[in-house]
Amino acid sequence: MSLNADRSYKMKLRDVENAFKYRRIPYPKRSVELIALLAISCTFFLFMHTNKLNSRLKEMEVKLQPSEFSALGLTGNHISGHDAGKHDDINTLHGTYQYLKSTGQLDTLTAAQLNNTPKAEREFVLFNRLEKVGSQSMTKLLGHLGALHGFATYRNEIPPTKKIVYNFKEELAFAEELLELEEPSAYVEHTNWINFTAHDMPRPIYINLVRHPIQKVISAYYYHRHPMIYANSLLRNPNKPTERKEFFERSFNDCVRQRIAPECVFDSHLPYNQDWRRFTLHLCGNQNVCTHFNSEMATQIAKLHVEKEYAVVGSWEDTNITLAVLEAYIPRFFTDATNQYYSHQEKFMINATPHDSHLDEDVEAYLKQQFAYEIELYHFCKQRLYKQYIAIRKQVQVQDSSSTENRSV
Ligand SMILES: *[C@@H]1O[C@H](CO)[C@@H](O)[C@H](O)[C@H]1NC(C)=O
Ligand SMILES: *[C@@H]1O[C@H](CO)[C@@H](O)[C@H](O)[C@H]1NC(C)=O
Repeated sequence: MSLNADRSYKMKLRDVENAFKYRRIPYPKRSVELIALLAISCTFFLFMHTNKLNSRLKEMEVKLQPSEFSALGLTGNHISGHDAGKHDDINTLHGTYQYLKSTGQLDTLTAAQLNNTPKAEREFVLFNRLEKVGSQSMTKLLGHLGALHGFATYRNEIPPTKKIVYNFKEELAFAEELLELEEPSAYVEHTNWINFTAHDMPRPIYINLVRHPIQKVISAYYYHRHPMIYANSLLRNPNKPTERKEFFERSFNDCVRQRIAPECVFDSHLPYNQDWRRFTLHLCGNQNVCTHFNSEMATQIAKLHVEKEYAVVGSWEDTNITLAVLEAYIPRFFTDATNQYYSHQEKFMINATPHDSHLDEDVEAYLKQQFAYEIELYHFCKQRLYKQYIAIRKQVQVQDSSSTENRSV
């Protein structure tokens, strides 16, 4: 494809897609005919209203004891009912708070310390979404907020196949495409972190979402087996071999226990085989080391990027905290996000395929071991999110009390 042909093709596509709310960066031509078909089928068939998810989140809520903690106005939902009564667990909001307090960090904590948004060199949000974390809901929310706050929203068209990592030239070509997008805007794709500075390009505002890595993998397992998703994947990739009955009928627990199907073997020595095990990959980047599953090195690189590069890495496991942190740290794009989310909630609860998330004890024990680093990174992201939240709540409280003082003076 020559560059000029590519450009004019792109412009044509954009004209066509002006009719859609979402404009897309084009991918190879053969996928274009499927755009409308896929878009329609996805919208209709994946539109499973997830009361189930809702009630699961409710179940997982842990009511916090009134304490100095709630005096700070900190509230939120927690990932696991197991945390009830274990409020010193650092992987909860309360535990993170207690940790900051007991180590003396709370006194000096400010929102500015944890704010990477000012490092961005253009008004451009890059949501390089992880798989099966509820990223479609965030994509919808971005679209909604874009219409409200006047920023454009783009997403890629899904290619039939995609490389796991880009080489330097491919990464450069992709980064150039992103640079062409107008500002302010937001772009969404399952893709790896890119060092734009290394390409002499301005840095975006990076965001992402996480979910417990084991839950994420179970979700991916059943998602691939959902009849509509499976049909769509055949449509996208007609050369894909069709699966047998066992593929659809085997439970996740059995699959892991049997260790026959490649997507159920979680061994760090196996090369990447197109499943969705790798929590770290999109946060780590396009280096080869990032493709290693449950790798200490990939985890360390990903942590560095989360801490220094990402404005917010949220989680729908902590919906309210995530929305509050997005509002506070990226106000140009997320002002009023909480209010908008709860006023149009049905619009954002999409693409969930209800499934059995139960884990047998032996399977759980095996997975916890195989996913140790991936889980560590997940907790790292959650702690940082809690810390950002505590920092803004603390700021609000400090502001409130200083304005009270001012009045009384
Ligand atoms: C989250 O916020 C909504 C809207 O403000 C509220 O109704 C809900 O109770 C909150 N959930 C939790 C767990 O705090
Ligand atoms: C990004 O690239 C620049 C220039 O090559 C380098 O100085 C910087 O350390 C890189 N950042 C990260 C997080 O790797």
